[in-house]
Amino acid sequence: MDAIDCDVIIIGSGMAGLRAAISAVETGSRLRVCVVTKVVGPRSHSISAEGGMAGVLYPEVTGDSYEAHAYDTVKGGDYLVDQDAALILAREAPSEILYLERIGVPWTRDSDGRIAQRLFGGMSRPRTAFVGDKTGFYIMSALYRRARSLPIEFYEEHLVTRILVVRGRFMGVTALNLRKGELVLFRGRAGIVASGGGGRLFRLTTMGYLNTGEVWGFALRAGIALKDMEFVQWHPTALVPSGILITEAARGEGGYLVNRLGERFMKNYAPQKMELAPRDIVSRAILTECKEGRGFIHEESGMCYVGLDLRHLGEDVLKKRLPQLVELVKTYTGLDPLVDLIPVAPAVHYFMGGIHTDVMGRVLNSDGEWVIGLWAAGEAASVSVHGANRLGSNSLAECAVWGRLTGVEAAKYALEAPQLSAIDLDARALYNEEEERIFNRLLHKEVGGVSIGQVRSLVQEALHRGAGVFRDGRVIGESMAMVSRAIELIGQVNVHDVGKVYNMELKELIELEGALPVAQAILIGAYYRLESRGSHYRVDYPNRDDSRWLVHTITYRYGDGVSVTWSPVRITKWRPEIRVY
Ligand code: FUM
Repeated sequence: MDAIDCDVIIIGSGMAGLRAAISAVETGSRLRVCVVTKVVGPRSHSISAEGGMAGVLYPEVTGDSYEAHAYDTVKGGDYLVDQDAALILAREAPSEILYLERIGVPWTRDSDGRIAQRLFGGMSRPRTAFVGDKTGFYIMSALYRRARSLPIEFYEEHLVTRILVVRGRFMGVTALNLRKGELVLFRGRAGIVASGGGGRLFRLTTMGYLNTGEVWGFALRAGIALKDMEFVQWHPTALVPSGILITEAARGEGGYLVNRLGERFMKNYAPQKMELAPRDIVSRAILTECKEGRGFIHEESGMCYVGLDLRHLGEDVLKKRLPQLVELVKTYTGLDPLVDLIPVAPAVHYFMGGIHTDVMGRVLNSDGEWVIGLWAAGEAASVSVHGANRLGSNSLAECAVWGRLTGVEAAKYALEAPQLSAIDLDARALYNEEEERIFNRLLHKEVGGVSIGQVRSLVQEALHRGAGVFRDGRVIGESMAMVSRAIELIGQVNVHDVGKVYNMELKELIELEGALPVAQAILIGAYYRLESRGSHYRVDYPNRDDSRWLVHTITYRYGDGVSVTWSPVRITKWRPEIRVY
């Protein structure tokens, strides 16, 4: 058995994971900090972030304030935000933008030399810092370079297969070394889950192929709760038909959305904010235009879409502020944004839900008890800072703020925590179980006849229908039955490649099997929430109902299935109001 002893184990190497690793090692320089990641180098999905990172930088000049940022976040999240979390985000994000500058992020600047800030949806002021429209690329390059200059150990191309929790305490993880096909035991005193989102559970997503969501399933399996999983963000402007992200910055720079009749239809849905209303509102508006026959139809795919009109912005703005957008549109559609409308439609982009944590990122079980030694950060976590709908550019801020914070906390804990020898036997027993499961049950299964693709398509279809922009109780029920069927079928998937080195079939099976309970958690949350709030819109319950549903949905493993309970939202400053834009 390969066993590696770490003080702090970080699952994932996106923005939150790298920020956590850096702050952990800077807090405890003698600690052994290990990053376990299924990708290579800075290729986590954060690298695809485009439009920017929110944070109030020059309040004395602009009149902006942390409170205004926090309030916009609370309102944008349809009051399901824990308000202490929103205040932490707003207060801490500016120093993180400056930290990123210090390690090499070349923020775009205004002519007076200050870091430029653009307007994003639902924000009352321009407060999104950016590097053109390749913000994620520059942030990830800087963080990765910094992390590699420190004594952080990277275990790349290692797919986590299980989170080890024994008697309420984190013990480590098992991970499949994809290069060698061997299972590795990572024992750790502290852990931080920063594994990102799970867009690939859906048919159409802006997320990369690595965002498969299985770590949430492993969390459930380990007795950890998930929170608010029904709140799935559909980004209004994904390129049709591929689903590639067309940044909201295009609308922040002044782009219009138009229907087939050439109308800026957002005037009928959000007359004050127009195209810069929050994403849930814009996505519903686009699909309503489609439903009512005012959309365009994409010939090959049959998809309905609306047009993003950037033609009036001119060549200079497109070149300087949105160069990647121009390149993507030309490459994937052959269209020229200076001449043509860009075909866009909503696609899954982000999960407001995730691992249930407190405001410090400490991972909780369904009774609200800390899973000792474990934290979560970034999209993998739900610290409840986004509520029912995240505002664009708040996610990079979240990754930086809670990446740093959890890194510091985990390091401080690890400096004091018990020696690893005390947890040796339990961790080894779980490793043995996992080895048996992967190499004897999954890899060498004799039954068969079902392909991974069949099961994946079934789940994607179920979520697309049951957890889409518009939802309906009856359809969600049907989707739950489809996911149950997928759970039966996964046991009949045959892995044809029985080799060890880079066995991508085995990798995909571990990912998909792991993520099935996550699909259940999303649908259960959507089924029981009998109201409409933020990204969760029930056509059979079209109004928000604060008297009953101003609560977080907590899902957890129960027997072989997933069960649900609810916990209150922390309202410290702003009473819920009707949300109009
Ligand atoms: O549209 C965008 O650039 C996405 C930003 C975000 O999701 O924060």
